[in-house]
Parts: sequence; C-alpha cells; structure tokens
Amino acid sequence: MNENKPIALEAYEKLAESYSQLAEGKAENGYIEHPAMRKQLGNVKGLKVLDAGCGPGILAAYLASQGAMVTAFDVSPKMVQLARQRLGDRGKVLLADMSKPLSFIEPGEFDIVASSLAIDYVRDWSVPLKEFWKALRPHGRLVFTVQHPISAFLWYKLSGYTGVQYAESEWKGFGSERVIVPDHYRSFEEMVNPLIDAGFTLLRVTDTKPAEALKGRDWEAYEKYTRMPPFMCLEAVKA
Ligand SMILES: C[S@@+](CC[C@H](N)C(=O)[O-])C[C@H]1O[C@@H](n2cnc3c(N)ncnc32)[C@H](O)[C@@H]1O
Repeated sequence: MNENKPIALEAYEKLAESYSQLAEGKAENGYIEHPAMRKQLGNVKGLKVLDAGCGPGILAAYLASQGAMVTAFDVSPKMVQLARQRLGDRGKVLLADMSKPLSFIEPGEFDIVASSLAIDYVRDWSVPLKEFWKALRPHGRLVFTVQHPISAFLWYKLSGYTGVQYAESEWKGFGSERVIVPDHYRSFEEMVNPLIDAGFTLLRVTDTKPAEALKGRDWEAYEKYTRMPPFMCLEAVKA
C-alpha cells in the first residue's frame, strides 16, 4: 500500500457514475444515511457548510436546496465532476484530500462541517479533524457519519474489535462491475478520542435507523437494518 495515496481513490473513480445514479434509491444511503445526516444537521438556512468527501454531491445539493451556502470537496476527480454537475452554480466543488491540510480553507469560515461516510477512509483522523476545527467558527458544528463499528466488525469478519485496522470488501451493489473498496475499520474509542484530542465536545451519537418508507420498498433490508445499524452519526461542537 502506498501511504501517500488515498486508499479508496481508485475504487471511487470506478464507482463514481453508478454511485451517483444509484445511491439515492439504495436502502443504506437513501433510506438510512441520508435521513440520519439531514436530521442531525437540522435547519441549515443561511449557514456556510463545508461538505467533506462530498462524492457526487447529493448532500451538497440537498444543503443548497435548504438555503445553505455550500463548499464541497472530494479526492476523486470523477466525483468532483459529478458533484459540479449536480450542484451547478449553487455551490463550490473542489478537488482535495482530507488526509492532508486543506489549503483552501479560511480559518473560522464555516458554521458546519458535514461529512457523509468519507472520513473512514483516512487512517489518521488527527489531520482532517484539525482542519475541520480550523474551518469552523467558535461553536460551529461537525456532523458526520461513519460505518458502525459493530456492523463493520462483522462485515469485514475481523478477528479483533480494537484499534484501527485496514480492511477491504468487494462491492456488488453499484452496477455490474465488482469493485474492491479498501477501508479502515475503527473501534468506538478510535472515533471518540480523536474528536476529544482535536478539541471538540461530543454532542450526540446516533445509531442509524431505517426510514419508515423502506418498510414498503424492501422489508428484508428494513428488518435487517433495524436490528443492526450500518452507520453511526456523530455530532460535535467547537467549544
Ligand atoms: C461512500 S462515498 C460517500 C460520498 C458522499 N459523501 C455521499 O454520502 O454520497 C465516500 C467518498 O469519500 C471520498 N474520499 C475518500 N477518501 C477521501 C479523502 N482522503 N479525501 C476526500 N475525499 C475522500 C471518496 O472519493 C468518495 O466520494
């Protein structure tokens, strides 16, 4: 593994188009992660929001539709292109890697940093958390989702629960091409302690729950994800 190259870049370059087309209709994204994130973000009207690891811009477009001023970034050039198409002139989309300092940020510029299912791909969270801290105004909020440690532990069939562990899996649910997606499994203390070390105060942790609308669409997924949350949503504040 090349330590300097973002681990999931190749995978998301392959997945970009199908992810952009399919994510909103998928149980895990459209019916679980999107509602969880939107609920935790609350009213964003008139707020400046940074979307870190924006993918094809689904959250960024939602934020803009709710009256937020959005800057979004992703490490995958294809995702950036798709996010620009989706967002049009309603926000800015940049190519940047959150495992490195974010040179485009003005200190205290943002009211909220939002990040959906993206920070998992960075091994050392101290780097993005320092940048998010810098980006936020005093009392600004960081709202983000990650793979739930219990679900990820089972999904990756790991032998131990602790620490941060490199893991990979084959994704079959986004189009016909099967793509190996590298990732990092992370235990709960490896999520909370880096936040505290970066100076954030944790406000809320939520195990995601499926939207009621999933019941009629895919009962099996609804039942499975009610028992076992695939994601966790964390909210922290720059005290
Ligand atoms: C599961 S997708 C989520 C995309 C989007 N946030 C959403 O929920 O629709 C993960 C995204 O994180 C991006 N990503 C991975 N590593 C990154 C890094 N080091 N810096 C910025 N983005 C990264 C990927 O390119 C991909 O678009």
